[in-house]
Amino acid sequence: MLFFTRARPLFNKTLVSAYNFSTSARQLKDIRNVTVIGAGLMGSGIVQVAAQADYKVTMVDTTEAALENGQKIIGNSIKRVARKKFPEDEAQQQAFIDKALSNISTSTDAVKTIGNTDLVVEAIVENIDAKQALFKSLDAVADKDTIFCTNTSSLPVTKIAEATSPERRQRFAGLHFFNPVPAMKLVEIVRTEAVTDPVYEDLVAFTKKTGKTPVECKDTPGFIVNRLLIPYMMEAFRILERGEASAKDIDTAMKLGAGMPMGPLELSDFVGLDTLKFIVDGWAKEGSLDDAYVKPCAILDELISQGHYGRKSGRGVFDYSK
Ligand code: 3HC
Repeated sequence: MLFFTRARPLFNKTLVSAYNFSTSARQLKDIRNVTVIGAGLMGSGIVQVAAQADYKVTMVDTTEAALENGQKIIGNSIKRVARKKFPEDEAQQQAFIDKALSNISTSTDAVKTIGNTDLVVEAIVENIDAKQALFKSLDAVADKDTIFCTNTSSLPVTKIAEATSPERRQRFAGLHFFNPVPAMKLVEIVRTEAVTDPVYEDLVAFTKKTGKTPVECKDTPGFIVNRLLIPYMMEAFRILERGEASAKDIDTAMKLGAGMPMGPLELSDFVGLDTLKFIVDGWAKEGSLDDAYVKPCAILDELISQGHYGRKSGRGVFDYSK
């Protein structure tokens, strides 16, 4: 199942920008070529939705194995999207899949691929040093107009951008997608103080073209969604810890009583218990939220210490091994 092109795709002159602003007045940059760095669950999802929207996308990771894993995630997900789009027509499903996949190239060298890129979206490990090192190396070689974005869920975008030049910081924003990327309709566009209006408008246009709805947020801890969602998930663990309700009943209550698609504990397993703890501990360290929201939780810590990270490890609060 090797459907990804290895060489960079040719520049497609027929692609048009998704917006109608006067370029002379606004000097907007047409986004055509996108590089996504990190081929994990989030990165591959971003690659997929951009390719489906007819952007030329290069998926970058450090090893061939990581790229193959990203391709596998995309291959499975895009079949679901195609079936949903064309439920009655297998030929149209296949044509949709083939077209999207033909927009994707892969590379293990971010610096080499960056030259022809209009937009970089980084989705690597949540480590500020790693992100800063990556962006520093890219800033040195990228076109001056290239827009840099991070998909960080918990680190300050302004701080990551400090690894780049003051000029680049005007073109450096957060672009926060949600898991599973092909299904979740929101993107948070995190505007730092430095981001200019045309860059923001470019990102709005890009986001909309991928079929998502953008919301604008300031560079504050958790932006909008995680600022509300993470304390909510942590409170579910505290109810469990105090023995006030069972895990199953907590989730049933929120699904049936509040219309949530998943209960808070299943959602925690879905996001990853290690990720949840990483975000909470980071906020505790920075002193960004009230202590009540970020204080340690013994049940969560114990599950993690036993290697139960949630769905990805086959067990978290719930058992997924079957
Ligand atoms: N690829 C493509 N499509 C997918 C998909 C995937 N990986 N996963 C789900 N879908 C689509 C399905 O095709 C289906 O479409 P349809 O209903 O229009 O036919 C739809 O999504 C629902 O999927 P399913 O019927 O298979 O399953 P569910 O109805 O149980 O929905 C779910 C699955 C979309 C994951 C739903 O349970 C949900 O919305 N859960 C909450 C997810 C959430 O809150 N995510 C945000 C997490 S926080 C985060 O990401 C931030 C980070 O920074 C921590």
